[in-house]
Parts: sequence; structure tokens; C-alpha cells
Amino acid sequence: MMTTRIIGTGSALPAYTLTNDDLSKFLDTSDEWIRTRTGIRSRQLAGEGETAVTLAAEAGKKALEAGKTAPCEIQMVFVATCSSENYFPSVACRVQEALGLKNASALDLSAACSGFLFALHTAHAYIMSGYCDTALVIGTETLSRTIDWTDRSTCVLFGDGAGACVVKKDEEGILDVVQHSDGTRGDVLMASAESRPTPVSAARKGMPLQMDGQAVFRFAVKTVPECIQELMDKTGRSLEEIDHVVLHQANSRIIEAVAKRLHMPLEKFRMNLDRHGNTSAASIPILLDELNRNGTLHKGDLVLLSGFGAGLTWGSALLTW
Ligand code: UT7
Repeated sequence: MMTTRIIGTGSALPAYTLTNDDLSKFLDTSDEWIRTRTGIRSRQLAGEGETAVTLAAEAGKKALEAGKTAPCEIQMVFVATCSSENYFPSVACRVQEALGLKNASALDLSAACSGFLFALHTAHAYIMSGYCDTALVIGTETLSRTIDWTDRSTCVLFGDGAGACVVKKDEEGILDVVQHSDGTRGDVLMASAESRPTPVSAARKGMPLQMDGQAVFRFAVKTVPECIQELMDKTGRSLEEIDHVVLHQANSRIIEAVAKRLHMPLEKFRMNLDRHGNTSAASIPILLDELNRNGTLHKGDLVLLSGFGAGLTWGSALLTW
């Protein structure tokens, strides 16, 4: 059976690291609170000259090298992001320019923290439809620029970065994907853009990221296990067969609760949020790249990816490595 395989991974993180102790110098918070409530110890923040585009291009370049794929072989570029500095052109078009992907067409997708999962599914659907054989899928975020740095309930959580995968038509790889949205719950996690005045409407001020943390927590802990179970039923595979779970890196307590609800050993749930915080659409591909490069993932391993976030959106993918 033909499917879509991840053949190369890459990631990029900003140079600057902000620790919990750094945060407690200008915010009423502590390393102890952040560590015990979230599992996060430090995160990277984009500095001058670092953007969603530069991080995406660096991650994409590394994924191409790792996948031994020439730029001219990429036919589609999908970039998941909700923190581009431009309405247009898309980040994907900028990445196309930066990496010389002259045979590709390029587009951005917006599904917040589920973005990479949705973009991977989109690439898979393009490949399965016969439209293309090889694509670059990237999650990139600079959410630090959307955050209110006086709001301790949100600003301690997020970090910036990008992760990328080259995907290619192959006989093994993605077994199946499920994805969902619930637009009626958009208000629990949102940020809004500024708009300029027009002859018929006033200017609108932008709003930094706002979140009902407990509502998102409850949503994740209930919905993610249900979504994973739906995928297992659809593929006919069992939870015991899974070698690695790469869950969106939002909060270690969410990951622990999901493992518990699924009666799965926590050791199978890979984590790097202690070092990077929540990098939204970039969290799954950054973690995949780390696991790929440090030798954790072996050919033939069964890997479960699962994301959730604003929208609300959520989804899971099961694949053999
Ligand atoms: O990609 C998806 C994005 N979002 C998420 O995944 C978020 C999911 N939610 C969460 O991770 C958790 O709800 C949070 C980490 C955001 C908050 O943890 P919590 O255990 O739900 O804390 P809480 O909101 O119930 O707040 C408990 C206390 C409050 O003080 P009082 O009212 O009990 O006096 C907060 O004001 O902790 C206080 N607090 C803080 N204290 C020190 C909130 N943030 C901080 C902070 N440092 N940074």
C-alpha cells in the first residue's frame, strides 16, 4: 500500500534562552511554581532578526539535508504557523525563496498548536491524491511576540522555534490520521490582530494571547485520549504496540494525565518542554527531530503524534518510522 513517509527532520531554535529565574526577576512568579505546574524550566525567544521565516527556513534546510533531498525535488511546502509577521506573503513562500525550492508551490495553514498535525495530514492527502510525491512540512512560531509579558498566567508557558519534516510517497509511513475542530469554543484561547480604520469602520486594537488555562487543560485531558482511541480503532492497532508518543508539549501535567487515562506507561511519552516550553505548531516537529537525531527512533518503530490547541482544534497521526 502506498502512503507518506517522513524521510528527514530538522529544527531551529532562537539563540536566546530565558529561564524561570530570569522570569521571576520581572514577574511575580517563581521557578518552583512554573516547574511544578507546567514542567517548564526554560524557553527560547526570538531576538532581533529572528522571525517565523528565518526559523522555518533553518529547520527546513536541515530536514532537506537529513532527508538527502535536493531543493528542486520539493513540490509542495506547507507551513503551519499563527505568528507570521506578515499577512502576506505567506511564510511558506518566503521559505520557498530562502531555500530555492523552485519547483514547489507554497501555502500556510493556521490551526494553532494542532497546526503541524493538520499540515502533515494535508501533505499526506496531496500525496495520496497523486498531486505530488515529495513535500516539506514545517511548524514555526514566534508566539513570544503575541504574548502580554505582564500576564504571568500565559507568558511563562510559551517559547519560539521551528521544526520541519520532508515527506515522500513510500510503501510505509503514515497509517492514518484523525483531526477535529470545535469552533464554538474559540474564546478559550485567542489572540487578535490589529486593523486600520476604513471609511466605514473604526480601527481595531490587537489583543495579546488570552487563555482560560483551566478550560484548555480540561479540554486536552478529555479530548486527546478520546482522539487517540479513535485513531487506534480506525487503524486496528493497539496502544501496547506504540513505541513513542509525541504529544504537543504544552504542560507535563497534561501529558501525565493523558498517559494515565490511556493506561500507558509515561516513559513512552517523549518530552522536551522542560527546555523549550510550548512552541505551539513547532512543538511536535522539534521533538520528532530531537528524537530522530539522538537515536531514540528506529526504523519500523510505531510512533503516535497528537496535537491540540486554539480553535479549538485537535488531531492524531499514527505512523511507522
Ligand atoms: O497549546 C495549548 C496552550 N495552553 C495550554 O496547554 C494551557 C493548559 N493549562 C495549563 O497548563 C494550566 O491551567 C496553567 C499552567 C496555565 C495554570 O495552572 P493551574 O494549575 O491551572 O493554575 P491556576 O490557573 O488555577 O492558578 C493557580 C494560582 C492562581 O493564584 P490564586 O488565585 O490561587 O491565588 C494564579 O494566580 O496560581 C497563580 N498563578 C501563578 N503563580 C505564580 C498563575 N500563574 C502563575 C505564575 N506564577 N506564573
